[in-house]
Amino acid sequence: MTPDVFDDPGVCPARESLAGRLARSDGGSRWAQAVRDVPRHVFIPPKVWSADGDDRRGEFRLLDATDPAGRAEWIAAVHSSDTSLVTQLDGARRPAGRHGDLARGTPTGSATAPGLVAAMLHHLDPRDGMRVLHVGCGPGYTTGLLCRELGADQVVAVEVDEDLARRSRQSLTRLGHHPTLVVRDGWHGHRQGGPYDLVLVTASCRRPARAWIAQTRPGGRILLPLHGALVNSGLALLEVADGDTASGRFLPLRGSFMPLRDRRIRLTATDTHRLGGDRPRPVRRRTTTSPLPMPETLTGWYLVELTLHTMATVVAEADDGSGAFTAWFADSDTGSWARVDHMPGASTYAVAQSGPLLLWDEIEEILHWWERLGRPPWHLFGITVTPDAQYVWHAPTGETRQLSYLAGQATPGGDCSPGLKT
Ligand SMILES: C[S@@+](CC[C@H](N)C(=O)[O-])C[C@H]1O[C@@H](n2cnc3c(N)ncnc32)[C@H](O)[C@@H]1O
Repeated sequence: MTPDVFDDPGVCPARESLAGRLARSDGGSRWAQAVRDVPRHVFIPPKVWSADGDDRRGEFRLLDATDPAGRAEWIAAVHSSDTSLVTQLDGARRPAGRHGDLARGTPTGSATAPGLVAAMLHHLDPRDGMRVLHVGCGPGYTTGLLCRELGADQVVAVEVDEDLARRSRQSLTRLGHHPTLVVRDGWHGHRQGGPYDLVLVTASCRRPARAWIAQTRPGGRILLPLHGALVNSGLALLEVADGDTASGRFLPLRGSFMPLRDRRIRLTATDTHRLGGDRPRPVRRRTTTSPLPMPETLTGWYLVELTLHTMATVVAEADDGSGAFTAWFADSDTGSWARVDHMPGASTYAVAQSGPLLLWDEIEEILHWWERLGRPPWHLFGITVTPDAQYVWHAPTGETRQLSYLAGQATPGGDCSPGLKT
């Protein structure tokens, strides 16, 4: 019979080596000691998918600690500072099969790479006596580090998935930690456990939930990954001003987090059939700005997506092999839409836009602003969230970029909602 992975002589040296790597990283020394004290392998299921396969094709490789051939690789992956591990695919599938098997799907449960966890905790900076809300508890390792640092009675963790929460609770209990662990949609926070000094979110969203801001005391901090409709994801550290406003800079860290369940704004090809009609009559013009984000323009597009945080995007390719496509943009808040027809080799593209918000004008305005600033990297920006809007600002100059109606130039209104899925 295979000895239990908990008794494997390889585990302790691997944990010590992970702690050593973290101790040498920026601000890592405090968390290196926590990593020594909280054995990570207790939180990771013996069968887990490694995300370092070809995850662009949604393909993941099974690591199996119960198979003698897979044990060493499993231990190495669990203690690698920059490997995230997938614990669930497609909302239900647990890792199964033989060591090395490949699986496809969309990750819905994962263990964040410990290097990223330590960096986030370093920036969040929990101190004695603080209360913390952790949204997206997952396997529980980050929650375990918080319990070790603050004491479990100061920690409230929320996880939407019952199965993941149950396993996480078992691991925490095994180490003697009994935080409040609630199974619910973390978008609503957990008011009964507040007010919090800190909120840590380890699943991404387009804007922070009002509940997180409301449940944090003034001066408290919220660290969260913010994703766009397209490809970007940055980590923002916000300070809460007065219960409904929060503001702060992006960290010089990037991490890819799965989106909070049921909070995605989607635009499908079917939705676009409902858009693009003549009512309300679209405004037409031409643009020289490509609707296709390029690697070198991703930060500009990220700023667009943060400002237009209720906007969804879909690209419809022409089926004539010409390489032409139409990029659709639709805002679920105001019902406004825009389409840009892209032709390969062309220098200008046809734009049609309709609704209370001229979406393409807003998009171009933000992209041009970013160009004028000299294309700064995303961590030179900050974000402010109010009950009505969120807007970005460039920290070195203090310049802000808001939607034109918030800046008082136009009034959104009307009812032409395309009924996007939210
Ligand atoms: C990247 S994992 C968290 C990893 C974890 N921080 C760790 O210690 O490794 C994200 C988790 O967020 C959870 N999640 C997704 N949507 C959620 C929601 N709406 N409310 C609460 N949890 C959610 C997922 O089920 C998943 O377990």
